[in-house]
Amino acid sequence: MPATLIDGKAAAAALREQVAEEARAFQAAAGRHAGLAVVLVGDDPASAVYVGSKEKATRTAGMAGQVHRLSADIDQPTLMALIDRLNADPAVDGILVQLPLPAGLDSDAVIAAVDPAKDVDGFHPLNVGRLASGLPALVPCTPKGCIFLLRQQLGSLSGLDAVVIGRSAIVGRPMAQLLLTESCTVTIAHSRTRDLPAIVSRADIVVAAVGRPEMVRGDWLKPGATVIDVGINRVEGRLVGDVAFDEAMTVAGAVTPVPGGVGPMTIAVLLANTVEAARRREG
Ligand code: GUN
Repeated sequence: MPATLIDGKAAAAALREQVAEEARAFQAAAGRHAGLAVVLVGDDPASAVYVGSKEKATRTAGMAGQVHRLSADIDQPTLMALIDRLNADPAVDGILVQLPLPAGLDSDAVIAAVDPAKDVDGFHPLNVGRLASGLPALVPCTPKGCIFLLRQQLGSLSGLDAVVIGRSAIVGRPMAQLLLTESCTVTIAHSRTRDLPAIVSRADIVVAAVGRPEMVRGDWLKPGATVIDVGINRVEGRLVGDVAFDEAMTVAGAVTPVPGGVGPMTIAVLLANTVEAARRREG
C-alpha cells in the first residue's frame, strides 16, 4: 500500500483560518490589528517572491503588514537604525528580516538587534536559548510547521525515534529541540555523519533538511516511517525535495510532497507567531 500523502496545503489553509479568527479576536480586544514588519534587503528574486507571499498572507489574515524594501548597498548602521525604529513602534508586533542578507551585512548583529518579544522568526539568541531550555519561546516557523504536520499525522510523538538530517540554525537545530520537547528520542545527522542509511533505518520520524536533491533513498527507510521533507531544490526546472519521493512512497507510512508539503506551513506559522507575539505584548 502506498504511503499517505501529507497535505501541507490543506493543513496550512486550516491554520491560516484559525489564525485569522485569533487575529479578529485580538483586534476586538486590543482595538488595533496585530502587525508584522518584513525587511527585505537587495533584489534576490527568490527572497522577493517569499516576501510578496508573506505580505499577501498577512493582509488576508486580517493583520497589518508593512514591507521595508532596502537597496542591496545600504550600510549596517542604516539597517540597524530601521530595526531600532521597528522595535520602538507600538503597532509592530513581529519583525522578520528576510535572509540571506547581501554580502557585507552582518546578519548575526541584525538578528541580535531585534526585540526578542517581536522575533517572530525565533532566531534571536534569547529565543534560541529558551527553546533549548524547554521554556516558552517564539519558535522558528518551518520546524514548528513540521511539528504541526507530525502531530496531525501521528497524534502523540512521545517515545518515537526521530532523525533530523541537517543542523542549520533555521531548521535542523530548532527541529531537534522541538522533537525533544515532544519526548522523541532524537538523533541529529549531518554532512559528517557516518552510515546515514543505518541511522535513518531506525527512525519512526525522518526530517530531511539538507538541501541535497533526493538524497534520502526509499530503501533507507523503516517501513511505515513518517517522512517530512523540508528540501526545496530546483532540478532541471522542477522542484524536488531532499527525499526520493517515489521510492519513499512505497516504503513509508506517510510522506510530505515537494511542493505542497512543508512549504505552505511556514507562512501560516509566521502569522500564528505574529498573533502570539501581539497577545503577549498586550499582556
Ligand atoms: N530565508 C529562508 N527561510 C527564512 C526564514 O524562515 N526566515 C527568514 N527571515 N528568512 C528566511
